[in-house]
Amino acid sequence: MDPEQFEYVRSLLLERSGLVVTPEKMYLLETRLFPVARRHGCKTIEDLIKRYREHQSEAIAVDISEAMNTHESLFFRDNAPFELFKKTIVPELLKRRVNKKKIRVWCAACSSGQEPYSLAMILDDLSAELAGWQVDIIATDISHSVLERAAEGAFTQFEVQRGLPVQYLVKHFTQEHETWRLSSRIRERVKFQHFNLLSDPRALGKFDVIFCRNVLIYFDLATKGQVMDRMVNVLAGDGVLFLGSSESTIGITAKFWPVVAGRGVYKHTGGAPCLVENGAP
Ligand SMILES: C[S@@+](CC[C@H](N)C(=O)[O-])C[C@H]1O[C@@H](n2cnc3c(N)ncnc32)[C@H](O)[C@@H]1O
Repeated sequence: MDPEQFEYVRSLLLERSGLVVTPEKMYLLETRLFPVARRHGCKTIEDLIKRYREHQSEAIAVDISEAMNTHESLFFRDNAPFELFKKTIVPELLKRRVNKKKIRVWCAACSSGQEPYSLAMILDDLSAELAGWQVDIIATDISHSVLERAAEGAFTQFEVQRGLPVQYLVKHFTQEHETWRLSSRIRERVKFQHFNLLSDPRALGKFDVIFCRNVLIYFDLATKGQVMDRMVNVLAGDGVLFLGSSESTIGITAKFWPVVAGRGVYKHTGGAPCLVENGAP
């Protein structure tokens, strides 16, 4: 791929999904785009890009964008956010939302579903306390193919061995040949929906908790800031935002403030006392 074509694909990816591809990632771009070229009947990546430029084919643009996304995920990733959700956040919501009896959680880059399903299994444990409550888990991603996979709730042996406590495997999964199928009871707790983080999330409604983990790392500073600034509008006044362990709001937006109790947890700067008790100002 010549530098001019690389630059073209680089801006296409930045505009469509916020993904930053640096010249050192040229090899990755080529490795991932080769199968896309073949799928569209092109002999080379150069032919694929040429065809896209001539016809502005949406199908090619979607496939290029999907091929470059990283969908790595696992159940109960990093554990601490899920412990905090179960032991502090849900009990606090049970007190603070007692009149509305409604809890809304958003998993903003849910990949193949391990993160929202981890939350759904926790909420299932708390079914007795949550009887009569409406609990929405909205799980979104930019990738249509990964959302389809997530909704199926079928995982490989390798995937269920990563982070999933054995008692949950036994309780909620059934083995079907090579795959482990999640029970419909847990699957039905999660609503999967397409959403690009570069757009305005207000149509999704307000949330008490937002998980937006391990996606901002792929964006540049300006995009990270814009995404987080838009999230401010959809997070309840006392709500919390979870980011991945290597992500932060510091130096990116002044609208969220880290909560001391747990790394990776953020609240509205200067907002009401958040769901995680000892929130900083
Ligand atoms: C590495 S996975 C993170 C999955 C999960 N949150 C976790 O921490 O395990 C990143 C996900 O972000 C999605 N993604 C990338 N760009 C996006 C965008 N602009 N809008 C929404 N999702 C995006 C990818 O499709 C991918 O599934």
